[in-house]
Amino acid sequence: MLDKAVYVTKKIPEEGIDLLREHIRNVTVNPESRILTKNELIRIIRDCDGVLAMLTNTFDEEFFASAEKVKVIANYAVGYNNVDLSAATRRGVMITNTPGVLTDATSDMVWALLFAVARRIVEADHFTHEGKFAGWEPMLFLGEDITGMTLGILGAGRIGTAVALKSAGFRMRVLYCDPQPNRILEEQLQAEHVELKTLLRESDFLSINVFLSPENIHFIGEKELQLMKKKAFIINTSRGQVVDEKALVTALREGWIAGAGLDVYEDEPILASGLTELPNAVICPHIASGTHQTRIKMSLMAAENIVAALQGNVPPNLVNTELVR
Ligand code: GLV
Ligand code: GLV
Repeated sequence: MLDKAVYVTKKIPEEGIDLLREHIRNVTVNPESRILTKNELIRIIRDCDGVLAMLTNTFDEEFFASAEKVKVIANYAVGYNNVDLSAATRRGVMITNTPGVLTDATSDMVWALLFAVARRIVEADHFTHEGKFAGWEPMLFLGEDITGMTLGILGAGRIGTAVALKSAGFRMRVLYCDPQPNRILEEQLQAEHVELKTLLRESDFLSINVFLSPENIHFIGEKELQLMKKKAFIINTSRGQVVDEKALVTALREGWIAGAGLDVYEDEPILASGLTELPNAVICPHIASGTHQTRIKMSLMAAENIVAALQGNVPPNLVNTELVR
């Protein structure tokens, strides 16, 4: 048993908490359902050795300067744009994430959003729930074909690759845009490695799966949206800041593109003005990794990382690896 203190900033599946408690004497789970403010976090975490953190917690220079005891922050997410990584590295704080375990859940969600928006499932469901179904109609809720269409993958990492591989049953042409060539996609799907402009011009469905970095904030803005087909759909399960959300609302309202399936937003939980009124936007509250099975795996992975770090080992999913070089 390690004589250490770990704070878990939100209730997560018990499996991860149990694992922490097997190894660490003092494990506290935030009993509140709301997100803690930065000042609360600093006050609570000051005396902790490790934090199991959510992507809704911000860890910036000010945090690291005031919480000097913290040795490890295990982010309960694959993305870690909520952490100032260079500040963490400068202060010697290990940052870990949960890669791999949520690749399938997230890529499944891309398909759920894609089908929902292309076949107007949400609108049609509301219609039926409201008792409006008055018999088969030749023109009722016409959507767009999926099988045989062109799928564009922006960011062919783990998740983008999984999204593309799942298209095989739908006989789609697959294009991808990524700094690196992707052999798996080229060999298994004859996918074409293309430039952004080609991806935008030729995709019927564009799935955004890039990692958020300062360079790709508003990567998809007005100019890019204008290049897309009027019948195209955008699916974003990465980070909201990759897309200029105001421009996207205009594009959806004015018919530059046909629709969008979104799980992430620029300024969560605030949505761009007008987005909720658009029938051609299927909007989910950042739930792509949210299956029982995946969240259990994430809780175990985050806990394993904290335990390893506090035992003095290199955590398996260390992000700032320069700390151990
Ligand atoms: C969720 O958005 C994650 O990064 O895991
Ligand atoms: C994230 O897991 C990615 O590499 O796509």
